[in-house]
Amino acid sequence: MDNNIKTISNFAKNTEGWLTNKEGRFLYEYAKKCKKGVIVEIGSWKGKSTIWLAGGSLVGNKTPVYAIDPHAGSSEHQTMYGQVWTFDEFKKNIKKAQVGEVINPVVKTSEEAASEWDKPVGFIFIDGAHEYEFVEIDFKSWFPHLIDGGIMAFHDTFGLPEIACKRILGFPGPRRVVEKYLYKSNFFKNIKFIDSITYATKTNKLSRKDKIKNKIAFLVRIIYNYFIGAYLVNFKVGFSYKKIKKCF
Ligand SMILES: C[S@@+](CC[C@H](N)C(=O)[O-])C[C@H]1O[C@@H](n2cnc3c(N)ncnc32)[C@H](O)[C@@H]1O
Repeated sequence: MDNNIKTISNFAKNTEGWLTNKEGRFLYEYAKKCKKGVIVEIGSWKGKSTIWLAGGSLVGNKTPVYAIDPHAGSSEHQTMYGQVWTFDEFKKNIKKAQVGEVINPVVKTSEEAASEWDKPVGFIFIDGAHEYEFVEIDFKSWFPHLIDGGIMAFHDTFGLPEIACKRILGFPGPRRVVEKYLYKSNFFKNIKFIDSITYATKTNKLSRKDKIKNKIAFLVRIIYNYFIGAYLVNFKVGFSYKKIKKCF
C-alpha cells in the first residue's frame, strides 16, 4: 500500500473530524520523523488524525501509534448526539485507509492509560476533552513519559479568553494549558503553531537563548491570537465592542 502524503490526505478527507489539511500534514511529517519512543494520540474520534499519524509512521520508521480514546465522545459531542460510541467507525476507517499495521487502539481515558504506561514517548498529540481541567490532566499525566527531545502537540489552542468567546472561537482550555505549561515553563523550546495546533520540544536544559525565544514566541502568539479574534468577531459575528469587552 502506498502511504504517500496524497493518498493519506484522501483517506483523511473522507473521515469525519475537525483537523485541517495543514494540521494533518504536520502530524504526518512528525510521525515520519519519530524514531525514538512511541507515538501517542489522545482523542481519536473516528480516526482522522490517527490516519495521518499512522501514514507518516509507515513511510518513516514504523513507530507504533497508540490511539487512546474511551470512544464515548467529549461533553460537546454528548450534548450534540446523546450517547456516543465511535470505536466501530474508527476501526472501519483505519481498515479502509490500510494503516492498521502500526496502530494500537487503547479504549481508555488518557488518565487511565497514563497511569499504567511503561513506554517512552517520542511524539504526543493531545486532542481529547477540551475543558481546562482535562487538558491539564493530559499534560500532567503524559509529560513524565515524554523523552528529552520529544514533541508535545495540542489541538484547538487558539481563541479569546473566557466563556463568552467559546461560542466565537472555540476552546479556552487547550489555549490556557499551552500558555502555562509550554510557553511559561522551563521544559520546552522551539514553540510553534500551525493552524490551531501548538507544539514544542521537551528539553531538560532550557538555555537563556531558548528562554528569550520562548518570550518572543509568546508575544507573537498573543498578537496572532488577538488578530484572529478581532478578525472573526468582525467578519463572522459582526463587530461589536460590547461583545469583545465580554471576553475579558
Ligand atoms: C475532538 S475529538 C478528537 C478528534 C480527532 N483527533 C480527529 O482529528 O478526528 C475528541 C475525542 O476525545 C475523546 N475523549 C474525551 N475525553 C477523553 C479522555 N479523558 N481521554 C481520552 N480521550 C478522550 C472523545 O471520546 C473524542 O473522541
